[in-house]
Amino acid sequence: MPILVTGGAGFIGSNFVLDWLTQSDEPVINLDRLTYAGNQENLASLANDPRHIFVQGDICDRALVDAILQQNQPRAIIHFAAESHVDRSIHGPSAFMRTNIDGTFTLLEAARDHWRNLNEAGKRWFRFHHVSTDEVYGSLTSDQAPFTETSLYQPNSPYSASKAASDHLVRAWHHTYGLPVTTSNCSNNYGPFQFPEKLIPLMITHALAGKPLPIYGDGQQIRDWLYVTDHCAAIRRILEDGRVGAVYNVGGWNELTNIDIVAQVVALLDELRPNPAGSYARLITHVTDRPGHDRRYAIDARKIEQELGWRPMETFATGLRKTVLWYLDHQDWVGRITSGEYRQWIDQNYGARP
Ligand code: NAD
Ligand code: DAU
Repeated sequence: MPILVTGGAGFIGSNFVLDWLTQSDEPVINLDRLTYAGNQENLASLANDPRHIFVQGDICDRALVDAILQQNQPRAIIHFAAESHVDRSIHGPSAFMRTNIDGTFTLLEAARDHWRNLNEAGKRWFRFHHVSTDEVYGSLTSDQAPFTETSLYQPNSPYSASKAASDHLVRAWHHTYGLPVTTSNCSNNYGPFQFPEKLIPLMITHALAGKPLPIYGDGQQIRDWLYVTDHCAAIRRILEDGRVGAVYNVGGWNELTNIDIVAQVVALLDELRPNPAGSYARLITHVTDRPGHDRRYAIDARKIEQELGWRPMETFATGLRKTVLWYLDHQDWVGRITSGEYRQWIDQNYGARP
Protein backbone atom coordinates (compact mmCIF):
# COMPACT_ATOMS: atom_id res chain seq x y z
CA MET A 1 0.00 0.00 0.00
CA PRO A 2 1.26 3.50 -0.74
CA ILE A 3 2.16 6.21 1.72
CA LEU A 4 1.33 9.89 1.26
CA VAL A 5 4.21 12.29 1.93
CA THR A 6 3.56 16.04 2.08
CA GLY A 7 6.43 18.43 1.35
CA GLY A 8 8.48 15.68 -0.27
CA ALA A 9 10.28 18.08 -2.64
CA GLY A 10 11.82 20.04 0.24
CA PHE A 11 15.04 19.31 2.11
CA ILE A 12 14.02 16.63 4.61
CA GLY A 13 11.02 15.39 2.59
CA SER A 14 13.10 14.65 -0.51
CA ASN A 15 15.75 12.85 1.56
CA PHE A 16 12.93 10.84 3.17
CA VAL A 17 11.37 9.85 -0.17
CA LEU A 18 14.73 8.87 -1.67
CA ASP A 19 15.65 6.79 1.40
CA TRP A 20 12.19 5.23 1.61
CA LEU A 21 12.36 3.90 -1.93
CA THR A 22 15.77 2.34 -1.33
CA GLN A 23 14.34 0.42 1.64
CA SER A 24 10.75 -0.34 0.66
CA ASP A 25 8.61 -1.14 -2.37
CA GLU A 26 5.62 0.72 -0.96
CA PRO A 27 4.92 3.55 -3.44
CA VAL A 28 5.05 7.18 -2.39
CA ILE A 29 2.46 9.80 -3.36
CA ASN A 30 4.30 13.09 -2.93
CA LEU A 31 2.11 16.18 -2.46
CA ASP A 32 4.11 19.39 -2.65
CA ARG A 33 3.14 22.92 -3.62
CA LEU A 34 6.66 23.66 -4.91
CA THR A 35 7.16 26.90 -3.03
CA TYR A 36 10.58 28.57 -3.30
CA ALA A 37 11.86 25.74 -1.00
CA GLY A 38 10.47 22.85 -3.04
CA ASN A 39 12.54 21.49 -5.91
CA GLN A 40 11.58 18.58 -8.12
CA GLU A 41 15.21 18.33 -9.19
CA ASN A 42 15.90 16.76 -5.75
CA LEU A 43 13.86 13.79 -6.99
CA ALA A 44 15.36 13.58 -10.49
CA SER A 45 16.78 10.10 -9.79
CA LEU A 46 13.16 8.88 -9.46
CA ALA A 47 12.04 10.26 -12.84
CA ASN A 48 11.46 6.78 -14.29
CA ASP A 49 10.42 5.09 -11.07
CA PRO A 50 6.71 4.18 -11.11
CA ARG A 51 6.77 3.91 -7.28
CA HIS A 52 6.99 7.71 -7.01
CA ILE A 53 3.91 9.75 -7.95
CA PHE A 54 4.39 13.49 -7.70
CA VAL A 55 1.37 15.80 -7.29
CA GLN A 56 1.97 19.53 -7.37
CA GLY A 57 -0.61 20.99 -5.00
CA ASP A 58 -1.41 22.70 -1.74
CA ILE A 59 -2.12 20.94 1.56
CA CYS A 60 -4.73 23.66 2.21
CA ASP A 61 -6.73 22.38 -0.81
CA ARG A 62 -9.21 20.03 0.85
CA ALA A 63 -10.76 18.78 -2.40
CA LEU A 64 -7.33 17.83 -3.74
CA VAL A 65 -6.31 16.06 -0.52
CA ASP A 66 -9.63 14.16 -0.45
CA ALA A 67 -9.15 13.06 -4.06
CA ILE A 68 -5.60 11.85 -3.37
CA LEU A 69 -6.72 9.84 -0.34
CA GLN A 70 -9.70 8.38 -2.18
CA GLN A 71 -7.74 7.36 -5.29
CA ASN A 72 -4.64 6.00 -3.56
CA GLN A 73 -5.85 4.68 -0.20
CA PRO A 74 -2.50 5.32 1.54
CA ARG A 75 -1.80 3.41 4.73
CA ALA A 76 -0.01 6.42 6.26
CA ILE A 77 0.45 10.15 5.86
CA ILE A 78 3.87 11.59 6.70
CA HIS A 79 3.45 15.33 7.02
CA PHE A 80 6.59 17.39 6.29
CA ALA A 81 5.07 20.30 4.33
CA ALA A 82 5.66 23.60 6.09
CA GLU A 83 7.13 27.03 5.85
CA SER A 84 10.35 26.27 7.72
CA HIS A 85 12.66 29.30 7.91
CA VAL A 86 12.64 31.35 11.14
CA ASP A 87 14.04 34.53 9.52
CA ARG A 88 11.35 34.46 6.82
CA SER A 89 8.70 34.03 9.53
CA ILE A 90 9.96 37.24 11.14
CA HIS A 91 9.72 39.18 7.86
CA GLY A 92 6.36 37.66 6.78
CA PRO A 93 4.48 35.45 9.24
CA SER A 94 1.21 35.00 7.32
CA ALA A 95 2.40 32.20 4.99
CA PHE A 96 3.46 30.31 8.16
CA MET A 97 0.01 30.58 9.71
CA ARG A 98 -1.63 29.45 6.47
CA THR A 99 0.50 26.40 5.66
CA ASN A 100 1.62 25.28 9.12
CA ILE A 101 -1.69 25.75 10.93
CA ASP A 102 -4.45 25.79 8.28
CA GLY A 103 -2.65 23.23 6.14
CA THR A 104 -2.23 20.81 9.07
CA PHE A 105 -5.87 21.34 10.03
CA THR A 106 -6.99 20.56 6.45
CA LEU A 107 -4.88 17.39 6.33
CA LEU A 108 -6.15 16.22 9.73
CA GLU A 109 -9.76 16.68 8.68
CA ALA A 110 -9.21 14.87 5.38
CA ALA A 111 -7.32 12.09 7.21
CA ARG A 112 -10.14 11.77 9.77
CA ASP A 113 -12.76 11.30 7.03
CA HIS A 114 -10.56 8.82 5.19
CA TRP A 115 -9.73 6.86 8.35
CA ARG A 116 -13.29 6.53 9.64
CA ASN A 117 -14.35 4.92 6.34
CA LEU A 118 -11.64 2.23 6.51
CA ASN A 119 -12.43 -1.32 7.60
CA GLU A 120 -11.30 -2.42 11.08
CA ALA A 121 -7.89 -3.72 9.94
CA GLY A 122 -7.28 -0.57 7.87
CA LYS A 123 -8.23 1.59 10.84
CA ARG A 124 -5.72 -0.17 13.11
CA TRP A 125 -2.94 -0.01 10.53
CA PHE A 126 -3.39 3.66 9.48
CA ARG A 127 -1.01 6.35 10.82
CA PHE A 128 -0.74 10.13 10.56
CA HIS A 129 2.85 11.12 11.37
CA HIS A 130 3.47 14.80 12.05
CA VAL A 131 7.03 16.09 11.58
CA SER A 132 7.74 18.88 14.03
CA THR A 133 10.58 20.75 15.65
CA ASP A 134 12.38 21.22 18.96
CA GLU A 135 11.76 24.98 18.62
CA VAL A 136 8.26 24.55 20.09
CA TYR A 137 9.90 24.16 23.53
CA GLY A 138 11.50 27.61 23.42
CA SER A 139 15.03 28.43 24.56
CA LEU A 140 17.31 26.83 27.19
CA THR A 141 19.94 28.49 29.36
CA SER A 142 23.37 26.85 29.46
CA ASP A 143 22.65 25.01 32.72
CA GLN A 144 19.17 23.67 31.87
CA ALA A 145 18.57 20.01 31.00
CA PRO A 146 17.76 19.18 27.35
CA PHE A 147 14.13 19.17 26.16
CA THR A 148 12.11 16.05 26.90
CA GLU A 149 8.71 15.11 25.48
CA THR A 150 7.08 16.67 28.55
CA SER A 151 8.91 20.01 28.43
CA LEU A 152 6.64 23.07 28.41
CA TYR A 153 5.65 24.53 25.06
CA GLN A 154 7.17 28.04 24.93
CA PRO A 155 7.56 28.94 21.24
CA ASN A 156 9.28 32.27 20.62
CA SER A 157 9.18 32.94 16.86
CA PRO A 158 6.24 33.12 14.44
CA TYR A 159 7.62 29.91 12.88
CA SER A 160 7.81 27.98 16.16
CA ALA A 161 4.43 29.34 17.31
CA SER A 162 2.84 28.05 14.10
CA LYS A 163 4.50 24.64 14.52
CA ALA A 164 3.40 24.52 18.17
CA ALA A 165 -0.18 25.22 17.05
CA SER A 166 0.03 22.38 14.53
CA ASP A 167 1.36 20.00 17.21
CA HIS A 168 -1.63 20.87 19.41
CA LEU A 169 -4.06 20.18 16.56
CA VAL A 170 -2.50 16.78 15.94
CA ARG A 171 -2.70 15.92 19.63
CA ALA A 172 -6.35 17.04 19.82
CA TRP A 173 -7.39 15.04 16.72
CA HIS A 174 -6.06 11.94 18.46
CA HIS A 175 -7.54 12.73 21.85
CA THR A 176 -10.98 13.75 20.59
CA TYR A 177 -11.51 11.67 17.45
CA GLY A 178 -9.09 8.78 18.04
CA LEU A 179 -7.11 9.50 14.84
CA PRO A 180 -3.97 7.31 15.10
CA VAL A 181 -1.24 9.94 15.14
CA THR A 182 2.43 10.10 16.10
CA THR A 183 4.59 13.24 16.33
CA SER A 184 8.35 13.77 16.24
CA ASN A 185 10.08 16.94 17.46
CA CYS A 186 13.50 17.07 15.89
CA SER A 187 16.57 19.28 16.26
CA ASN A 188 18.48 21.09 13.47
CA ASN A 189 19.04 18.95 10.39
CA TYR A 190 21.84 19.32 7.86
CA GLY A 191 22.85 17.43 4.72
CA PRO A 192 22.26 17.28 0.95
CA PHE A 193 19.45 19.29 -0.69
CA GLN A 194 19.11 21.86 2.13
CA PHE A 195 18.02 25.22 0.75
CA PRO A 196 20.94 27.66 1.07
CA GLU A 197 19.03 30.10 3.29
CA LYS A 198 19.88 27.88 6.31
CA LEU A 199 23.12 28.22 8.28
CA ILE A 200 25.36 25.42 6.94
CA PRO A 201 24.58 25.62 3.19
CA LEU A 202 24.51 29.43 3.39
CA MET A 203 28.04 29.47 4.82
CA ILE A 204 29.31 27.01 2.18
CA THR A 205 27.79 28.90 -0.75
CA HIS A 206 28.82 32.33 0.54
CA ALA A 207 32.40 31.17 1.17
CA LEU A 208 32.71 29.72 -2.34
CA ALA A 209 31.37 33.00 -3.77
CA GLY A 210 33.81 35.06 -1.66
CA LYS A 211 30.91 36.74 0.20
CA PRO A 212 30.77 37.59 3.93
CA LEU A 213 29.85 34.74 6.32
CA PRO A 214 27.19 36.49 8.44
CA ILE A 215 27.15 35.41 12.11
CA TYR A 216 24.10 36.73 13.98
CA GLY A 217 25.11 38.50 17.21
CA ASP A 218 27.93 36.88 19.18
CA GLY A 219 27.54 33.48 17.47
CA GLN A 220 27.37 31.70 20.85
CA GLN A 221 23.84 30.36 20.24
CA ILE A 222 23.68 26.58 20.52
CA ARG A 223 21.83 24.12 18.30
CA ASP A 224 21.77 20.30 18.39
CA TRP A 225 22.72 19.08 14.90
CA LEU A 226 21.50 15.87 13.25
CA TYR A 227 22.39 14.49 9.82
CA VAL A 228 19.21 14.38 7.73
CA THR A 229 19.21 10.64 6.95
CA ASP A 230 19.30 9.92 10.70
CA HIS A 231 16.10 11.96 11.03
CA CYS A 232 14.55 9.98 8.15
CA ALA A 233 15.49 6.69 9.88
CA ALA A 234 13.89 7.90 13.11
CA ILE A 235 10.62 8.65 11.29
CA ARG A 236 10.66 5.21 9.66
CA ARG A 237 11.11 3.58 13.10
CA ILE A 238 8.23 5.60 14.54
CA LEU A 239 6.01 4.56 11.62
CA GLU A 240 6.93 0.91 12.19
CA ASP A 241 6.61 0.64 15.94
CA GLY A 242 5.81 4.02 17.48
CA ARG A 243 2.97 4.05 19.98
CA VAL A 244 -0.24 5.67 18.74
CA GLY A 245 -0.62 9.11 20.28
CA ALA A 246 3.04 9.27 21.33
CA VAL A 247 5.53 12.10 20.84
CA TYR A 248 9.22 11.33 20.22
CA ASN A 249 12.05 13.84 20.54
CA VAL A 250 14.76 13.26 17.92
CA GLY A 251 18.25 14.77 18.21
CA GLY A 252 21.91 14.18 17.56
CA TRP A 253 23.38 14.51 21.09
CA ASN A 254 25.50 17.07 19.34
CA GLU A 255 25.33 20.60 20.77
CA LEU A 256 27.52 23.16 19.04
CA THR A 257 27.70 26.95 18.95
CA ASN A 258 27.09 28.65 15.61
CA ILE A 259 30.62 30.01 15.62
CA ASP A 260 31.98 26.44 16.05
CA ILE A 261 29.86 25.24 13.15
CA VAL A 262 31.16 27.99 10.89
CA ALA A 263 34.75 27.29 11.96
CA GLN A 264 34.31 23.61 11.02
CA VAL A 265 32.79 24.48 7.65
CA VAL A 266 35.69 26.88 6.99
CA ALA A 267 38.28 24.23 7.96
CA LEU A 268 36.74 21.69 5.56
CA LEU A 269 36.60 24.20 2.70
CA ASP A 270 40.20 25.24 3.37
CA GLU A 271 41.17 21.57 3.03
CA LEU A 272 38.93 20.59 0.09
CA ARG A 273 38.80 23.82 -1.96
CA PRO A 274 41.69 26.02 -0.77
CA ASN A 275 41.53 29.64 -1.92
CA PRO A 276 44.74 31.43 -3.02
CA ALA A 277 43.50 34.55 -1.17
CA GLY A 278 43.85 32.67 2.16
CA SER A 279 41.55 30.94 4.64
CA TYR A 280 37.80 31.46 4.25
CA ALA A 281 37.89 32.53 7.92
CA ARG A 282 38.73 36.03 6.64
CA LEU A 283 35.08 36.29 5.45
CA ILE A 284 33.51 35.76 8.92
CA THR A 285 31.49 38.87 9.81
CA HIS A 286 29.34 39.47 12.89
CA VAL A 287 26.01 41.11 11.95
CA THR A 288 22.95 42.35 13.84
CA ASP A 289 21.26 39.53 15.75
CA ARG A 290 17.98 37.81 14.78
CA PRO A 291 15.08 39.42 16.75
CA GLY A 292 13.99 37.13 19.62
CA HIS A 293 16.88 34.76 18.83
CA ASP A 294 16.63 31.54 20.90
CA ARG A 295 19.89 30.98 22.77
CA ARG A 296 20.07 27.22 23.06
CA TYR A 297 18.21 24.10 21.91
CA ALA A 298 19.12 20.60 23.09
CA ILE A 299 17.22 17.34 22.75
CA ASP A 300 17.01 14.47 25.19
CA ALA A 301 16.53 11.58 22.74
CA ARG A 302 16.41 8.77 25.32
CA LYS A 303 12.74 7.91 24.78
CA ILE A 304 13.09 7.01 21.09
CA GLU A 305 16.27 5.09 21.88
CA GLN A 306 14.70 3.13 24.73
CA GLU A 307 11.36 2.42 23.03
CA LEU A 308 12.40 2.04 19.41
CA GLY A 309 16.15 1.43 19.49
CA TRP A 310 16.94 4.48 17.34
CA ARG A 311 20.26 6.31 17.65
CA PRO A 312 22.00 8.57 15.14
CA MET A 313 24.44 6.69 12.89
CA GLU A 314 26.40 9.68 11.63
CA THR A 315 28.89 11.66 13.71
CA PHE A 316 29.08 15.41 13.12
CA ALA A 317 32.56 15.04 11.59
CA THR A 318 31.44 12.43 9.04
CA GLY A 319 28.09 14.13 8.34
CA LEU A 320 29.58 17.59 7.84
CA ARG A 321 32.29 16.26 5.50
CA LYS A 322 29.65 14.48 3.39
CA THR A 323 27.58 17.66 3.32
CA VAL A 324 30.44 19.94 2.25
CA LEU A 325 31.49 17.43 -0.43
CA TRP A 326 27.88 17.26 -1.68
CA TYR A 327 27.65 21.05 -2.04
CA LEU A 328 31.05 21.18 -3.77
CA ASP A 329 29.79 18.56 -6.25
CA HIS A 330 26.40 20.25 -6.75
CA GLN A 331 27.25 23.88 -7.38
CA ASP A 332 25.03 23.69 -10.49
CA TRP A 333 22.07 22.70 -8.24
CA VAL A 334 22.83 25.68 -5.99
CA GLY A 335 23.16 27.98 -9.02
CA ARG A 336 19.75 26.98 -10.36
CA ILE A 337 17.86 27.55 -7.09
CA THR A 338 19.56 30.77 -6.09
CA SER A 339 17.22 32.58 -8.46
CA GLY A 340 15.90 36.13 -8.48
CA GLU A 341 13.61 35.36 -5.51
CA TYR A 342 16.55 34.06 -3.49
CA ARG A 343 18.69 37.10 -4.27
CA GLN A 344 15.81 39.35 -3.17
CA TRP A 345 15.59 37.41 0.11
CA ILE A 346 19.33 37.82 0.74
CA ASP A 347 19.02 41.59 0.19
CA GLN A 348 15.96 41.79 2.45
CA ASN A 349 17.44 39.71 5.29
CA TYR A 350 21.07 40.79 5.23
CA GLY A 351 20.83 44.28 3.67
CA ALA A 352 19.42 45.64 6.93
CA ARG A 353 22.00 43.90 9.15
CA PRO A 354 25.08 46.08 9.42
P1 NAD B 1 11.76 22.94 3.52
O1 NAD B 1 11.39 24.38 3.66
O2 NAD B 1 13.07 22.59 2.90
O3 NAD B 1 10.64 22.19 2.65
C1 NAD B 1 9.28 22.40 2.84
C2 NAD B 1 8.53 21.76 1.68
O4 NAD B 1 7.12 21.95 1.90
C3 NAD B 1 8.85 22.39 0.32
O5 NAD B 1 9.05 21.38 -0.65
C4 NAD B 1 7.62 23.21 -0.01
O6 NAD B 1 7.37 23.35 -1.41
C5 NAD B 1 6.52 22.40 0.68
N1 NAD B 1 5.34 23.22 1.02
C6 NAD B 1 5.33 24.42 1.65
N2 NAD B 1 4.07 24.88 1.76
C7 NAD B 1 3.26 23.92 1.20
C8 NAD B 1 1.85 23.80 1.02
N3 NAD B 1 1.01 24.76 1.44
N4 NAD B 1 1.39 22.69 0.43
C9 NAD B 1 2.23 21.71 0.00
N5 NAD B 1 3.56 21.78 0.12
C10 NAD B 1 4.07 22.87 0.71
O7 NAD B 1 11.61 22.33 4.97
P2 NAD B 1 12.46 21.19 5.69
O8 NAD B 1 13.64 21.80 6.32
O9 NAD B 1 12.61 20.05 4.77
O10 NAD B 1 11.44 20.80 6.87
C11 NAD B 1 10.45 19.80 6.67
C12 NAD B 1 9.65 19.65 7.96
O11 NAD B 1 10.52 19.30 9.02
C13 NAD B 1 8.94 20.93 8.39
O12 NAD B 1 7.69 20.58 8.91
C14 NAD B 1 9.84 21.49 9.49
O13 NAD B 1 9.10 22.24 10.42
C15 NAD B 1 10.37 20.21 10.10
N6 NAD B 1 11.69 20.29 10.74
C16 NAD B 1 12.76 20.82 10.06
C17 NAD B 1 14.02 20.82 10.67
C18 NAD B 1 15.24 21.37 9.95
O14 NAD B 1 16.29 21.49 10.57
N7 NAD B 1 15.17 21.70 8.67
C19 NAD B 1 14.17 20.31 11.95
C20 NAD B 1 13.05 19.80 12.63
C21 NAD B 1 11.83 19.78 12.00
O1 DAU C 1 15.72 23.39 15.57
C1 DAU C 1 15.04 22.92 14.44
C2 DAU C 1 14.87 24.05 13.46
O2 DAU C 1 16.15 24.28 12.88
C3 DAU C 1 13.85 23.75 12.36
O3 DAU C 1 12.58 23.61 12.94
C4 DAU C 1 13.82 24.87 11.32
O4 DAU C 1 12.94 24.53 10.26
C5 DAU C 1 15.21 25.05 10.78
O5 DAU C 1 15.24 26.13 9.86
C6 DAU C 1 16.20 25.29 11.91
O6 DAU C 1 15.96 26.59 12.53
P1 DAU C 1 17.17 27.55 12.95
O7 DAU C 1 16.67 28.94 13.06
O8 DAU C 1 17.92 26.98 14.11
O9 DAU C 1 18.10 27.36 11.64
P2 DAU C 1 18.98 28.38 10.77
O10 DAU C 1 19.81 27.55 9.85
O11 DAU C 1 18.15 29.47 10.19
O12 DAU C 1 19.93 29.03 11.87
C7 DAU C 1 20.77 28.20 12.69
C8 DAU C 1 21.49 29.13 13.66
O13 DAU C 1 22.41 29.94 12.91
C9 DAU C 1 20.57 30.12 14.37
O14 DAU C 1 21.04 30.31 15.69
C10 DAU C 1 20.71 31.41 13.57
C11 DAU C 1 22.14 31.34 13.07
N1 DAU C 1 22.37 31.99 11.75
C12 DAU C 1 21.60 31.64 10.71
C13 DAU C 1 21.77 32.22 9.48
C14 DAU C 1 20.89 31.84 8.30
C15 DAU C 1 23.41 32.90 11.61
O15 DAU C 1 24.15 33.21 12.59
N2 DAU C 1 23.60 33.47 10.38
C16 DAU C 1 22.81 33.19 9.32
O16 DAU C 1 23.02 33.79 8.22
